[in-house]
Amino acid sequence: MTERPHVLLSAAVSLDGYLDDATDTRLVLSNDEDWARVDGLRAASDAILVGANTVRADNPRLLIRSPELVAERVAAGRPEQPVKVTLTRSGSLDPAAQFFTVGDAEKLVYAPPGVVTGVKATVVELSGLHEMLADLFARGVRRLMVEGGGAIHTQFLTEGLVDELHLAIAPFFVGDPLAPRFADEGAFPRGLTLVKSTRLGDIAVLEYHSTPEPSEVDILRLREAIALAENCPPRTFRVGAVITAADGEVISTGYSGDGDPANHAEEAALAKLEPGDPRLAEATMYTSLEPCSSRTSHPRSCTQLILDAGIPRIVFAWREPSVFVDCVGAETLEAAGRRVIEVPALAAGVRRANTHIPGVHL
Ligand SMILES: NC(=O)c1ccc[n+]([C@@H]2O[C@H](COP(=O)([O-])OP(=O)(O)OC[C@H]3O[C@@H](n4cnc5c(N)ncnc54)[C@H](OP(=O)(O)O)[C@@H]3O)[C@@H](O)[C@H]2O)c1
Ligand SMILES: [Zn+2]
Repeated sequence: MTERPHVLLSAAVSLDGYLDDATDTRLVLSNDEDWARVDGLRAASDAILVGANTVRADNPRLLIRSPELVAERVAAGRPEQPVKVTLTRSGSLDPAAQFFTVGDAEKLVYAPPGVVTGVKATVVELSGLHEMLADLFARGVRRLMVEGGGAIHTQFLTEGLVDELHLAIAPFFVGDPLAPRFADEGAFPRGLTLVKSTRLGDIAVLEYHSTPEPSEVDILRLREAIALAENCPPRTFRVGAVITAADGEVISTGYSGDGDPANHAEEAALAKLEPGDPRLAEATMYTSLEPCSSRTSHPRSCTQLILDAGIPRIVFAWREPSVFVDCVGAETLEAAGRRVIEVPALAAGVRRANTHIPGVHL
């Protein structure tokens, strides 16, 4: 599994799904509040990518506008501005475009050999989105924001490379088939989950997360984690956890109450490994229940322990019901760039092991 950045695709569209009209001037689809929202997304990103046609058509600056957000990045030891990224097959890019001339951010152009000349940017002679994403990851990009246009959206979506999709919908129609659409023809994946909808004036903002499919090995290991919960005393949540190395080999297991009566399953499994175990950097944590995000019994939540251990991938079956606390484990892990896969198809077995808890039903 080659590593790639977390990809957030952000776009503004008309009610009939157009990104722009067919005129030379850029159609305004946002308002000030919405621009501030997009600014926040940019500030949380390590790099921003647009297609060469957007560079040519819109001449975007691709900068964080808010000085406060820039200051926060600097205070956190991050570069002032995200890296700017574009890709082209033709190489037709104007060196005077604001993409190249505005701001001190690093600029990257992905293109076939020899086609791009004369621009102030690092030209990477690579083609293919997967290769590009692996290269961005190797350059330290962990969160990539994709900002259009339609040809780019189509490829990222149809290749299953979008982890989050944020759509701002303007309250009018474009109605012109010559205008660029949000996405073109293609075989699009299903499995987008609406996680939030917000109203910003008359703009509706919809946020979706993609729900990655678990592999056969994931299902096998998650079943093993669920079975481990049988070892737990029936006091609190009965949870099992399995940690595997990159090749799927089990390197540790645990269950609630394993070792120390207050131990959570993930904690018990992690406690059996050396903190700096190099296998953790490519490991998967399987846990029957969503990792907890706050707790009273021990100082660090399982979410924090997973983050501190550097585990990049988490697979779980059941989202914690808000019996004790509202759990934001999955969201927190995702926000930190970890891959989180929920397998609700296996949640029934976890509920069955926990019917002693008030409010938990089969
Ligand atoms: N409303 C919004 O949120 C929003 C955001 C962004 C853009 N837009 C609008 O979207 C329109 C542009 O969209 P678009 O679909 O025409 O173009 P686009 O997606 O911005 O760019 C397409 C171009 O990117 C390059 N490209 C695409 N895939 C590539 C690959 N796999 N390898 C190498 N190069 C690749 C090619 O450049 P070459 O032609 O140079 O080979 C291709 O023509 C504009 O009207 C813009 O205003 C709207
Ligand atoms: Zn926990």
